[in-house]
This record gives sequence, C-alpha cells and structure tokens, in this order.
Amino acid sequence: MTHQAGPDKAPDRIAGMFDAIAPRYDFLNHALSLGIDRRWRARAIRSLRLTGRETLLDVCTGTADVALQAEGAARVVGVDFAAAMLRIGLQKVNAAREASRVTLVRGDATALPVPDAAVDAATIAFGIRNVERPDRACAELARVMRPGARLAILEFGVPRVPGLRALYLAYFKYLLPFVGRLVSGHRAAYSYLPASVGAFPPPAEFAAMLTRAGFRAVRADPLTLGIVYLYTGVRGR
Ligand SMILES: C[S@@+](CC[C@H](N)C(=O)[O-])C[C@H]1O[C@@H](n2cnc3c(N)ncnc32)[C@H](O)[C@@H]1O
Repeated sequence: MTHQAGPDKAPDRIAGMFDAIAPRYDFLNHALSLGIDRRWRARAIRSLRLTGRETLLDVCTGTADVALQAEGAARVVGVDFAAAMLRIGLQKVNAAREASRVTLVRGDATALPVPDAAVDAATIAFGIRNVERPDRACAELARVMRPGARLAILEFGVPRVPGLRALYLAYFKYLLPFVGRLVSGHRAAYSYLPASVGAFPPPAEFAAMLTRAGFRAVRADPLTLGIVYLYTGVRGR
C-alpha cells in the first residue's frame, strides 16, 4: 500500500458510516485485531504518564474504549461526531459506573468544543486517518492542551518487513473487508478501512505535521512490527 489519493472523507459521510456500524464496532474491532487493540490503547495511555490529577481529552472517542481504559486520569472528556458511537459509549460508561469521571460530548475534531489550554493530556485512537483535514485537528489539539501536556495518537501503519507486509496487505485488502461486511452488513465501511490507511501520511510526515502544529519531542514508534504507530509529543510552551 503506498501513500495514495484518499477516499471521500466528507464529515457527514464519515459520521454516517460510523453511525451505521456502531452496534457491531466493538465486536469487530476486537475480533479483527485478535484482541491486540486493547494492548495498543494501554501502551498509548501509559505514554501519557498520568498521575491521577489530569483532565484527559480523548478525540474521536467512538465507543469510549480509551476513555474508560484511562483509569489514571481524574477526568476524561471524550469527543466524537457520530451520535450512535457515543450512545454505545455512554452505555459502557454507565455500566462501568464511570459517569462522574467520563463525559462524552458530540463534536468535531477540527473544531473542538473545549476552551484554550484546558486539558492536561490528549489521545486519538484510530481516528485521525478519518479526519478530512488532519492538520486542523492537530492545531485544535495544540490549542486546547496546556503547555507541557502530553499527546498520544494511535493509527494504523503498514509493516515494512517484506513477508509480513504482503500478508498484512492481503489481510487488510481481502479478509478484513469480507468479514467486516459479513458481520456489520455495511458494504462500504470495511473497504474504506484499507483505503483510508493507505491514504494516511507516512509516519515521518505525520510526525512533522505534529511538530508544525506546536508539539515538541515528537516520536513515531512502531507497535506490533509497524501494523500500528504510536505518535507521542508534548505541547510546546
Ligand atoms: C475507528 S473509530 C475509533 C474509536 C475509538 N477511538 C477506538 O479506539 O475504538 C474512529 C472514530 O472517529 C470518529 N471521527 C472521525 N472523524 C471525526 C471528526 N472529524 N470529528 C470527530 N470524530 C470523528 C468516528 O465517528 C469514529 O467514532
């Protein structure tokens, strides 16, 4: 998969797609990643070095997996523009008796409903590749994070090891859309996934975008042989 012209990422289309697959999203997520997705989120949360005092903003929170897993934050605000994803997230928050700690808000990553310098840490897990203007989302993160606040972004990559790369591309291109379609009943969503990953900037390019947005000490660390990248950075002063 090379960096290529991407699929249509008009906000209405993306929100509608996630609304449509919301009821099956968690099941498919854990099944298609063989359960490794929980470990990827745990690694991202660990990188924030939470002390129990922070307000964490989880952008593209979906069904609130990161928000709920980030137990080291005093308060978590999850933002997403797909109402059906948030509804399922809210059920999970209530079931976990975390409603006083975790708040879910409908909003767009490129116009966050959060005041300037209001959060102590921020995350985006598997959301940034869906955003039509990722540069604007990065600028918004920089605006709402206080200087010194830590950022962790998880996004799919393409492994570089040749054999694994071929296997992964085949899995991504054929098996995943097939299973995704079968279980979710949504034709486009799981073909969109490989297309959106192929169109996302390579790690060095996305890291440079974060630096331009105002983050320092930016790193792009491959997880699970580069199937996923963890981007970290600190909001500059
Ligand atoms: C693949 S899901 C990831 C959800 C969750 N973070 C997780 O780790 O499972 C991507 C989420 O990003 C949301 N999203 C995509 N673009 C967005 C935007 N511009 N503003 C807000 N949410 C967005 C979608 O609605 C969807 O819920």
